[in-house]
Amino acid sequence: MKNFLLSFETSCDDTCVGIIDNEFNVVSNIVYNQNLIHSKFNGIVPEIAFKYHNNKIFEVLKFSLEKKKINLDSIFAVSATIGPGLFNSLLIGYSYAKFISSIKSIPFIGINHLEGHIFSSIKNTINFPFIALIISGGNTVLYLCEKKFEYKQIGITRDDAVGEAFDKIASMLGLKYPGGISINNLLNDVNNLKDYKFPISMKDKNNYDFSFSGIKTSVKNFIKNKALNNLYELKSICFSIQKSIFFSIIEKTINSCKQLCINNLYIGGGVSANKYFRNEIKRKCFFNNINISLPDLEYCTDNAIMIAKAALFRYKNNKNINDIFSNINSNLLL
Ligand code: KG4
Repeated sequence: MKNFLLSFETSCDDTCVGIIDNEFNVVSNIVYNQNLIHSKFNGIVPEIAFKYHNNKIFEVLKFSLEKKKINLDSIFAVSATIGPGLFNSLLIGYSYAKFISSIKSIPFIGINHLEGHIFSSIKNTINFPFIALIISGGNTVLYLCEKKFEYKQIGITRDDAVGEAFDKIASMLGLKYPGGISINNLLNDVNNLKDYKFPISMKDKNNYDFSFSGIKTSVKNFIKNKALNNLYELKSICFSIQKSIFFSIIEKTINSCKQLCINNLYIGGGVSANKYFRNEIKRKCFFNNINISLPDLEYCTDNAIMIAKAALFRYKNNKNINDIFSNINSNLLL
């Protein structure tokens, strides 16, 4: 019996292999994370990411299959991220998926990384129409999706992605990479912190776009004469930054739902793991009657389960299966 869909995600620095069954249930989710390696450079070095994907992928695949006693003969389709992302990194997962597809004569389904993030929170169905917010290290974007596979970009960052801004700001504050995680962890207990005012980007603009360069500059100037070795002070600064960054993201997202009369909201991307963000957006959605779908923490950052779910949805709808145009594209648009 062919019961499983196998998936690869290697668009950036995580080597991920996932297996789901034909009802969207997760069977295996393995992520080999390169954070420690790249933290020395305060960011991702593409050549190093490629090297580690290449060294690890076979081991990750073998472990995924053996741990669940799954044989390649029980796989009915195979998928991989085809973009956007680092070209050489994408090539690793794509080549493995294509090879398995051809030796086992099973369909290959190429998936856009951003569509994967949208599917990261789904259990066994997706409700239309919906708004999707992707907040990650490489993307900050809002989509309107009224029909299956028709994504309309309605807002995007004008400069840095929000995760990138968190990483850069954290580095200025002497916190380790990935900075979004460091800031989140530093703020586990947040009692009686000072509330500094940082700029709220694109606040008065009548659109759904974002910008994070202003807050970066403002933090840089603000910390010039500050003692960052004082933990209370450091926490207060981080808390205030976080509050200001998420204020604009949440306002724009809720406004888009209200103004476009959409009451389903899907969220994805590494930054959606942030504790403060999750509480705030859930609260706002509750008051505005919006059905929010947030990924479990393990599916916020890159993983192959989200790619597998997007692929299974395409498979069930017979969309882009074995598509000869499903090639790698670093700048692939959704
Ligand atoms: O989705 P992801 O794994 O990679 C991309 O596709 O970009 O997101 C990585 C980003 C990093 O910038 C990291 O700092 C941020 O997600 N991040 C967080 C948290 N966990 C990861 N940012 C804020 N709070 C978190 N808990």
